[in-house]
Amino acid sequence: MSPYLFDNKDDRTPDRFSVLESCYDPFSRRQLEETGLARGWRCLEVGGGGGSLGDWLAERVGPEGEVTVTDLDPRWAESRPHPPNVHLLRHDIVNDPPPGASFDLIHARLVLLHLPERLDVLDRLVGILRPGGWLVLDEFDLSWTPVLAAPDAAAVSLFERLHSALLTQLEKTGADPLWGRRTLAAMTRADLTDVTCTTYAEAWPGGGTGIGLHRVNMQQATSALRTDGVTNEELTRFYALLRDPAFAVNSYPLTSTRGRRR
Ligand SMILES: C[S@@+](CC[C@H](N)C(=O)[O-])C[C@H]1O[C@@H](n2cnc3c(N)ncnc32)[C@H](O)[C@@H]1O
Repeated sequence: MSPYLFDNKDDRTPDRFSVLESCYDPFSRRQLEETGLARGWRCLEVGGGGGSLGDWLAERVGPEGEVTVTDLDPRWAESRPHPPNVHLLRHDIVNDPPPGASFDLIHARLVLLHLPERLDVLDRLVGILRPGGWLVLDEFDLSWTPVLAAPDAAAVSLFERLHSALLTQLEKTGADPLWGRRTLAAMTRADLTDVTCTTYAEAWPGGGTGIGLHRVNMQQATSALRTDGVTNEELTRFYALLRDPAFAVNSYPLTSTRGRRR
């Protein structure tokens, strides 16, 4: 089974999914519409997490279409109701047989970034598109998180040190923090055509919804961070900073890259 730092077993996982849904679903939906998404399409949502985008796709394709939503651990998507044309599947995109074939559209958000086998997975996803079908990958560039406002210079240093420590933990599990900026080249190499991308970012002020992603990520990685020298005192100051309205950081930029099978 693939390593994944933010295991869905953790009770705080819904906090992550709710930030991703409220901050990024509107952008992801706009990018998915750009493919010409239409009634009757057969779609695959890989690593669907809380399942919000799978539900939205199901409404867009209507009862004559269908959406397969996979996840290594689909417990949170299973915990809410879905349209009848959504099929939830416990599935490992790295090791399990393909969850279908000839899809009109395959979408994955923030999944391949975490997988050391991302290039093989990309090839496999291309192989289960119908000719002319679309692959859309929405991925972060985790390196571009400038602090936009801070109460003092120490706050900037604290944020940068702890954020950098978190990226080190992600890299240890085989994640690629720069995958968002590498996706377009990878999809072109995978022989997709009409490959293009758009990137979205916004300000995340202290106390707001988006910045909560840093809290839940840091909380879930706490024991690994402590092993690497992050102290409880630093974590306490970090969480206070995330609540401080005098602090603001740029959101993770989400790059949505799409291309179609020849
Ligand atoms: C960062 S979350 C993103 C969830 C959702 N795509 C979103 O953007 O809201 C990554 C998701 O990918 C799933 N995942 C990780 N490794 C996977 C694998 N090998 N196969 C399928 N899903 C996987 C995780 O369980 C988790 O739900």
